[in-house]
Amino acid sequence: MKIFLDTAIVEEIREAASWGILDGVTTNPSLAAQSGRSFKENILEICEIVDGPVSAETVGLTAAEIVSEARLVCSWHRHVVAKIPCISEGLKATRALKDDPNVRVNMTLVFSANQGLLAAKAGANFVSPFIGRLDDAGHDGMELIRDLVAIYDRYGFDAEIITASVRHPRHVVGAALAGSHIATIPFKVLQKMARHPLTDVGLARFLKDWEKVPDHDTILKG
Ligand code: E4P
Repeated sequence: MKIFLDTAIVEEIREAASWGILDGVTTNPSLAAQSGRSFKENILEICEIVDGPVSAETVGLTAAEIVSEARLVCSWHRHVVAKIPCISEGLKATRALKDDPNVRVNMTLVFSANQGLLAAKAGANFVSPFIGRLDDAGHDGMELIRDLVAIYDRYGFDAEIITASVRHPRHVVGAALAGSHIATIPFKVLQKMARHPLTDVGLARFLKDWEKVPDHDTILKG
């Protein structure tokens, strides 16, 4: 499963990229606002850090506006993917952009299997079901991932599922087990994924014992 970072903060992206596990980045208007920077400048800097898709969201509400915004953001850098909301005008725009070789679409704000089915049929390259927000509303977000994986497999849709609105490490494991192609993860959750208290305890014990090795203070110093 590919790992994307769900953030517009370049320091977080730089750190995750340095771990060698980063396949892409997703942003949205709320994350762009948190960055406090010019949208284009920020997206361009992210594109230089990560060698993979970087989602930049459109805000138009008509198909014509969405198409024009999608073409614009995708012209900024070859890594940019236009993130388009799953509304009827967004589906229309996605279909209109399907044969444009310079535009890839990530259909976002997907909360049902029907929306995911329509997004794939319209020609979206990526589809983003928001599982955390579904859980928050009393639904089972992971069930949507399982349903979409089954539907896409059964009918041979090319769209890649990006498990989004990830709240904790267990969501990432669930997405991987369900067969999601990608999970987009907040940096705080990524940090939690890398840590385990038994690793910390084990390391502390090894370091203490290492001091009892006669040549410990010189042998690994080169
Ligand atoms: C992903 O594409 C979305 O931007 C993001 O995952 C939404 O997450 P949230 O529900 O935590 O805002």
